[in-house]
Amino acid sequence: MFGKPRAQTPSALKLIPRIVRFDYESVMRQNRYWHGGDPVVTHFFNALQAMFPEGERFFMDSARDVRDMLGKDNIPAELNEQIRLFIRQEAMHGREHDAWTNALISLGYIGMEGFDLKLKRDNQWSKKKLKPLWRLSMTAASEHFTASLAHLFIYKRPDLIEKAASPFRELLVYHAMEEVEHKAVCFDLFKQAKGGYFLRSAGMIFVTIDLLVRLRNRQEYLLKKDGLWNAKTQKEMRDLLWGKEGIMRVLAPYLLQYFRPDFHPWETDERRDLVAKYGQEMQVIDAQQTQVSAA
Ligand SMILES: [Fe+2]
Ligand SMILES: [Fe+2]
Repeated sequence: MFGKPRAQTPSALKLIPRIVRFDYESVMRQNRYWHGGDPVVTHFFNALQAMFPEGERFFMDSARDVRDMLGKDNIPAELNEQIRLFIRQEAMHGREHDAWTNALISLGYIGMEGFDLKLKRDNQWSKKKLKPLWRLSMTAASEHFTASLAHLFIYKRPDLIEKAASPFRELLVYHAMEEVEHKAVCFDLFKQAKGGYFLRSAGMIFVTIDLLVRLRNRQEYLLKKDGLWNAKTQKEMRDLLWGKEGIMRVLAPYLLQYFRPDFHPWETDERRDLVAKYGQEMQVIDAQQTQVSAA
């Protein structure tokens, strides 16, 4: 699975900024625990995805800032084009995940606004205080994290997609596909800007801890709001991440690859397997796109 050192971004790589628009609120109103009727897993996804829009704006800014710092002329043309498409993909993800969070707020989880505000303030702080390359090291690490999640959905825990009701499952498949497509853009840009191994590794350590803390706070809030914060759900939350087939436990070997000095995100290519496994969802996504562009 691993073990192909010095891999490179495929020269014919295509990043497709798909246009989608799903209605989350009406589904949530009928089926609050849309992930197999399980509040812990449903709120895990509700909590995780709520960090994406602000996170993705942070990723776009850091890529733009480093690109501008280097100057487009000092970046290979393919990478410039990939940065442009990466920004378009992330902008669309942000819009959809904002819609998902707004649906949660409409259902009464108004505390989600406060979490978002705090994340926005933290990102503004880091934009002012941290060098663009430092922020890009966090972005490259986050992109490895999201691509690893896609890897997990395809090969290790397909149940996490299969038990999700529509349109959540389509959104997750759509997002997973684009995270795979652009997984190396910020990594390659970081290398182009002469980002070193220690900064790259520090970025991964920081974003992993930061993500786990923010995720837990949100998930705790959502469960508390439903009156479901108790010893049983807390154990289920721990098991979901750290149990035998737990998300973090299964992700760990893949995440740890990032610390190999010769690591490159394209050592694995999940695109074909994703389509093979979730072809039906990809069809819905493509049809959605046609509808949106025809509208
Ligand atoms: Fe994204
Ligand atoms: Fe991404």
